[in-house]
Parts: sequence; C-alpha cells; structure tokens
Amino acid sequence: MGTATRFWNWTAERYSRQSIADEASYQKKLAITQRYLTPDMHVVEFGCGTGSTAILHAPKVKTYAAIDVAEKMVEIGRRKAAEAGLSNLTFTVGTLEQAGAPDTSCDAILGLNILHLVPDLDLTIATVARMLKPGGHFFSSTICLRDLQGKLRLLGLATRVLPLLPTVSSFSVRELETRLERAGFAIEERFEQRPGVVFLVAVKR
Ligand SMILES: C[S@@+](CC[C@H](N)C(=O)[O-])C[C@H]1O[C@@H](n2cnc3c(N)ncnc32)[C@H](O)[C@@H]1O
Repeated sequence: MGTATRFWNWTAERYSRQSIADEASYQKKLAITQRYLTPDMHVVEFGCGTGSTAILHAPKVKTYAAIDVAEKMVEIGRRKAAEAGLSNLTFTVGTLEQAGAPDTSCDAILGLNILHLVPDLDLTIATVARMLKPGGHFFSSTICLRDLQGKLRLLGLATRVLPLLPTVSSFSVRELETRLERAGFAIEERFEQRPGVVFLVAVKR
C-alpha cells in the first residue's frame, strides 16, 4: 500500500464526519451534474471517498459504480449506501484503471477532488475517455495549484516535501482544460469556485 492510500485510510472516519466547506458551491455542482443525469445511465465515480456525492446522484441513474483506493473509505460508503437502501450503488476498492468499466460503456464519469491527486493525470484522463461512450460526460472538480492563491497554495506545495501527505500535482486551470481537449474532450461548462478550484463538465467528442 502506498503512502497516499495509507493516508486516506487513516483519515477516512474523520473525513466522513467533516462538514462541507463551501455548501453553496457544492449544491451548485450537484445541480449542474443532475441536469445531465437520466434514469437509463451507467455512471462511474472514481476517488469517491465515503460516497456522500454518490448517494445523492445514484437515485437519478440506472447504475452507479463508486471506486476508491482506500478500503476504509469504501467500507463507510457501503454502509451509507445500505442505510440509504440504494441497491444500484456499488463500491469497489481500486483506481479507475484497475476497477473502472469496459471501454465505451459509461454515460458519465465523475472525478471529484481527485485529478490533482492521481500519479499520472494524462493516463487517468485517457482512461476516462476510453470508458465513456461518445457523447458521454466527464464531471471533475479539481484544485489547480498553479492558480491557487495564499495559504492554500503553500499547503499544496508543502505536500511535495511532507512524506506522509498525498502529493498534490501542480497545473493551472488552462493546462487542465488543454489536457482534456487533447484527449478528445470539449469543455461544455466551467464553474470556477475560486481562483484555482474548478468544476468542469467535459463531453467526449
Ligand atoms: C480529496 S478525497 C475526495 C473524496 C470525494 N471525491 C469528495 O469529493 O469528497 C480524495 C479521494 O480519492 C481517493 N484516491 C486517491 N488517489 C486515488 C486514485 N489514484 N484512484 C482512486 N481513488 C483515489 C482517496 O482515497 C480519497 O478518498
């Protein structure tokens, strides 16, 4: 198990009890996403954490596969899904590459607060593109360290020298969009929560 997975397992219980820092932005992102969801859809979410968002979206679609590298996050997610009585919501331990879906089988993929944490951003984006149907949507919420300001930027940069924390990659919003476009996506919607924190809806052309 790598350092990052150890960290997420260690923090899972605490993470599940944390309140959302910016509730208005969270609600806005939920509402944008749900405009696209329909009852016939197959959806995958990677880096799902304890499944808080998955539980809200799953009732709107046919199947919802939630994936996370941290077993403890998945355990909590499964418990919450069972309590909510959601039989179409499944949880699997792994990365998107390991535990995702067959090629061109997904109508939508979500990666929320995760793209800045994956070890190979282009590989993850290519995997999302491969698993989506043409016309399928990718919803991402990402910290773009290069555009962040103040203390948060320093904290992100500090993860590179603090061995117990997951490393946050450094790219700008524009760079992220360019990398999505290069992988065959068009950006359909952009909500910049604050400089350097961006929610994107990208469609696979
Ligand atoms: C910042 S949390 C975000 C959780 C949730 N998406 C949210 O927005 O609250 C990052 C999550 O991604 C998971 N994670 C980290 N690296 C991952 C990877 N390469 N593949 C899948 N999940 C990963 C962690 O275990 C953690 O649950």
